[in-house]
Parts: sequence; structure tokens; C-alpha cells
Amino acid sequence: MPSGDGSPANKTPEAGQLLAFELGDEALEAEILAGMQASEVQLMAELSKGADFLVDKISHLAKAGGKRFRPMYSLIAAQFGDNPQSKDVIRSAVVVELTHLATLYHDDVMDEADMRRGVESANARWDNSVAILAGDYIFSVCSAMLSGLGSYTLDHFATTFGDLVTGQMRETLGAPEGTDPVDHYMQVIREKTGVLISTAGRLGAYHAGAPAEYVEALSNYGMCVGLVFQIVDDMIDIYSDMDESGKTPGTDLREGVFTLPVLLAMRQQDEVGARLREMLTGPLETDAEVEEALELLARSEGRELCLGMVRQLLEDAKSELAVLPDGAAKNALRNLTEYTTRRVG
Ligand code: IPE
Ligand code: IPE
Ligand code: MG
Ligand code: MG
Repeated sequence: MPSGDGSPANKTPEAGQLLAFELGDEALEAEILAGMQASEVQLMAELSKGADFLVDKISHLAKAGGKRFRPMYSLIAAQFGDNPQSKDVIRSAVVVELTHLATLYHDDVMDEADMRRGVESANARWDNSVAILAGDYIFSVCSAMLSGLGSYTLDHFATTFGDLVTGQMRETLGAPEGTDPVDHYMQVIREKTGVLISTAGRLGAYHAGAPAEYVEALSNYGMCVGLVFQIVDDMIDIYSDMDESGKTPGTDLREGVFTLPVLLAMRQQDEVGARLREMLTGPLETDAEVEEALELLARSEGRELCLGMVRQLLEDAKSELAVLPDGAAKNALRNLTEYTTRRVG
């Protein structure tokens, strides 16, 4: 994990700080780490440009930490091409992390979150306007970098941006009357989370010169893993404390966003399900309500049912690997599927 101190620009992070996952092969790890260091230097350099009063705001979350999962996945996907460390592979990894970063600034405004990556969110540290503008500025940095990556990437990324916003809008509006809330949730997480991780794999592989069928498989694998990633993140909001997650538990409930564990628990035909259905008709206003809901959810079947869906998605992810050639990179992707669920046991 990147350290939170020091000057952001041109500082090479130390080995071991960046790779939050074991990839199972020393030579591969060294190569991915080298790529991640290169992309980290570029990321921090990009976030250090601009007026002085901007720099502390736009580098705030990047300096605070983060797993750098998306750039790592771009770099692993690039291993399936002939040129896995090309300048454009690194640039793609940076573009994907910058996009993620910008969405976090905006997401914390919408979710009124006060903590992110173990530090105060930008909206809490400054205010909503600053957080929105910081996110916008990061998108502008991202667009400038994208312009050097060619029309295939520009085209693809335009769709990715559109999907991210569509997913956040779909979540904000909630499931329309008469539709299945679980289907709605799955569509939201495909758009707001799956799509960017899928893009990370697609662009890494594409810019390394991988064959089209590998590019598609890595895009599909990224989608499955992305869905798991979001479900696990939503489970953490319900079942973990702040020391583990760096975020405040129950944030989604306070916002009236009912995620998969909650939706599944609300279907339960017993007193737990009935009380949840009665309580969860909108945002929870008080600490006592949030506490009661978290306690009911802990007693519900939500966790087990979520884990069942996660296991199925991981099987789907693994089946996407079938077309890829055997080797250390493919094994690393097998390991990665296990890691995505480690945070919830
Ligand atoms: C958080 O993403 C938002 C989700 C899509 C679940 P990450 O879990 O990748 O967050 P960082 O980058 O490590 O902080
Ligand atoms: C994450 O959404 C932001 C995006 C995927 C754009 P959430 O609101 O579900 O995630 P956290 O829990 O705040 O990281
Ligand atoms: Mg959020
Ligand atoms: Mg959100």
C-alpha cells in the first residue's frame, strides 16, 4: 500500500508497499511490481500538476492509500501480450486508477461519507464543492492521458465513463416499482464497478498486443471479479468495523442504499425479515436505528446467501480463464479470485 507521507511527485514507492496481493511466482511478482511502481510514479506526477491550491486536494486520496487493484489487474492482463511493460500499458493502468480515484471523490459526496482509505474523505476534510471539483479535475487529467492512447481506447473509455455514471444514477434512483430489487442491484454493480475492472483488463491486454480472444476473456474475467469485489465491499459495510475497512460501517443504510446482503435478508420470511422490511423504507436517520439494523442483519441469512452468489461468480470468472495459455500469469489470476473474498472470510 502506498505510504501516506512524503512528496507525491517522482517518488518511487518502495517494493512491497504496492502489491497488496501475492501472485504466487517471484519473477511475475517482480515484473508486476516494477510496472506498478512505474504507474505509481506517473499517477503521482499527474496529480502534482496544476495550481498549488489544487494539488493537495487532488492528491489527498491517492496519498492516503488504496489497494491499486485496477492497475495491478491491467498489468497482469498485459502479461498475455508480447509487450507487457509497454509505455501504453503503464499509461492505461494510470488512466484506470485515475478514473477510479475521481469516482471515489464523487461517490463520497453522494454517500455523505466521512472516511475513505482510513482518512477523512475530501468532502469531510474540505466540503462538497471542493470534493466535486477535485474529482472533475482528476477526470480532466485522465482525459488528457487518454488522448495519447488511440481511438480504440478513447472509444471504449467513453462507454466506460457513461456506464459508471449510469450505474451511479441507477443506484440513486432506486429500483422502479414492480421490478426485482436484486436484479436492479446486479445491474447497478455491473455498471458502477464491474465495467471499470473489466476495462482495466481489456486495456492492459490490448496495449500489450494480446490476441483479441484473450482481450475478451480478460475483460469478462474482470467483470466477474468486479461484481465479487463490490458484493464483498457491500458486505464489509454491514459486517465489519472501521479498523478493518477504513470506512464507517452502515454508511449505505444511512443513505437508504440497500445492498445485496440487505436485500436478501429483507426477503426472509421470519421476524428478522419482517422487522427489516418495516425499518428499511428510506435512509436511516439515527445511530440507534443503524445499530438495530446492523444487529438484525448479523442474525440474518444475508451473509451466507451473498457468499453463495460470490462463489458462483468466482466459478464464472475461472471459466473465462480457459482460453488463456497456462503459466504464471494465469495462476496469478486464479489466486486473485481467492483474494477478492478474503476480506469477508
Ligand atoms: C472501492 O474500491 C469502491 C468499490 C468499487 C468497491 P476499492 O476497494 O478498489 O478501493 P481502494 O482503491 O482500495 O481504496
Ligand atoms: C463505490 O461505490 C464507488 C464506485 C464504484 C463508483 P460504493 O459507494 O458502493 O463504495 P464505497 O463503499 O463507498 O467504497
Ligand atoms: Mg460510497
Ligand atoms: Mg456509493
